[in-house]
Amino acid sequence: MDHIFTFQDGQQVLTLGQGTWNMGDSDITRMEELRTLRIGIDLGLNVIDTAEMYGNGRSELLVGEAIEGRRDKVFLVSKVLPSNASRHGTKEACEKSLKRLNTDYLDLYLLHWQGRHPFEETVQAMLELQAEGKIKQWGVSNMDVEEMDKFYAIPGGETCAANEVLYNLTRRGIEYDLIPWCRKHKIPVIAYSPVEQGRILEHRLLTEIAEQHHATPAQIALAWVIRNPGIIAIPKAASVKHVQENFKSLFIRLSEDDLKQLDRVFPKPHRKMPLEML
Ligand SMILES: NC(=O)c1ccc[n+]([C@@H]2O[C@H](COP(=O)([O-])OP(=O)(O)OC[C@H]3O[C@@H](n4cnc5c(N)ncnc54)[C@H](OP(=O)(O)O)[C@@H]3O)[C@@H](O)[C@H]2O)c1
Repeated sequence: MDHIFTFQDGQQVLTLGQGTWNMGDSDITRMEELRTLRIGIDLGLNVIDTAEMYGNGRSELLVGEAIEGRRDKVFLVSKVLPSNASRHGTKEACEKSLKRLNTDYLDLYLLHWQGRHPFEETVQAMLELQAEGKIKQWGVSNMDVEEMDKFYAIPGGETCAANEVLYNLTRRGIEYDLIPWCRKHKIPVIAYSPVEQGRILEHRLLTEIAEQHHATPAQIALAWVIRNPGIIAIPKAASVKHVQENFKSLFIRLSEDDLKQLDRVFPKPHRKMPLEML
């Protein structure tokens, strides 16, 4: 298993982490969600992705509880809403996230998507938060090549450490230019909705390949996302069964033939595609 990504500051993560959108919203499922996140961390799925937006802070509160006593084992990612991403707004939002997460630093703080505030202001705030030790690294989400170039042209913008975007078998557009761009700049693509929110899991080909590997369609879909270096997948699992299953995708190696079959049904892009978002 060689699924480690090393950030430019030396921090290392497993290329399979845990998403948390729609978690922490219900008292009925809360205990199972907490147990799931903790088991995921203990398995080594150290990237935990949350955002101030998710459930208006409820996801961050849940994550805060899940990482209690395990903070040093976690690579914690949160995001500022574009409407808050002014220089002061970003810093204020970060403080609030830190409180909800019950920690004094984030490993990675992302601008969730492009909004009305100039990138310069957000970058300035990120650099200040970094200097204050409140975030280790900063990055962006839902940004295409054009926006990445704009970020990199801002003084300090070239320290952007990650781009989190939609990527799975049915959303391959970024293979054309954004993945190569990120690779060239040595930053990871954090692939969100890696199993297309569950919608691809009954696909016939995935089921067939899964059977050959004694695996499940979710495991095949995840093994495909993380098949190349530089991509970190963050599936959301709300049950212990799902997180344990997802963890095992780290040990699946798809054959050349599997990849060819998948390419036939889920074709690679041959031209620039607009960046998709969910
Ligand atoms: N930056 C952004 O703009 C952005 C946008 C979207 C998502 N995200 C992040 O990416 C994370 C993942 O994306 P997502 O939540 O949209 O979709 P996803 O991870 O592709 O799919 C989650 C769905 O798949 C199911 N699932 C997970 N593992 C499974 C398994 N082994 N077998 C069967 N079903 C399984 C989950 O069920 P259960 O819940 O029942 O386990 C859930 O219904 C989010 O949680 C969030 O942290 C970021």
